[in-house]
Amino acid sequence: MVIQGCNKVSGMATSPASSLVSTPPAVQAVLFDAYGTLFDVYSVALLGEQLFPGHGERLAVLWRDKQIEYTRLCSMSGPQPGQHYRPFWEITRSALRHAAARLKLDLNAEREERLMNQYHHLSAFPENRQVLEALRARGIRAGVLSNGDPSMLAVAVRSAGLQDLLDPVISVHETRRFKTDPAAYALGPAALGLPARDILFVSSNAWDAVGATWYGYTTLWVNRAGLPPEELGVQPTRTAGNLRAVLDFFDQRGN
Ligand code: LAC
Repeated sequence: MVIQGCNKVSGMATSPASSLVSTPPAVQAVLFDAYGTLFDVYSVALLGEQLFPGHGERLAVLWRDKQIEYTRLCSMSGPQPGQHYRPFWEITRSALRHAAARLKLDLNAEREERLMNQYHHLSAFPENRQVLEALRARGIRAGVLSNGDPSMLAVAVRSAGLQDLLDPVISVHETRRFKTDPAAYALGPAALGLPARDILFVSSNAWDAVGATWYGYTTLWVNRAGLPPEELGVQPTRTAGNLRAVLDFFDQRGN
């Protein structure tokens, strides 16, 4: 079930009973967040566990949390705007080093490279291809708007075999700002030639779904982990349990 404007998490169905669903906003295109939404950032826990038995899961969580914290620190600090910006790939490496040190793990150069290489080739969530193919069949443009830098995104999209299904793949890199900075979200409407409200922005990161909602996008929070909503007095347009709920925005208006 998908219920607009509240925090219920949908099940696996893609076409819930229409009586339970209000009319979806008339979105014309879809932009996906990449890391956490299309690609499973916690899939690195497996290799982490092999390298550091008993610590894989904790390492993956600390790594991700520090990575996001660093995006904010580097994006927001001055005195000159953008002065501390560095590409997401570098931030990801710095965050890994910090997370390993925090857990007192022996992250030598070889282990660091193995983990970073794994990050280059993150597992994609299984429903991605089906959803992207269904969007294509309906003539709906689907792309990416991500904090990832262009080369990192290109490798991730290619290694998941999604390069023919995602266009445009937009990196925030040129703005020297990370989401949730408005300059980063502004890239979507500029690239698609559509107002933000006509674009469905999809993210598994609650903070990203909130930032995009505030910016003006129609939003879907893919709450895979069943987390409680943010307590900031704003909710994504819809919340669901997996990516298939994207199709509900189109199925009910006869596309
Ligand atoms: C992305 C990360 C932050 O923008 O999820 O892809």
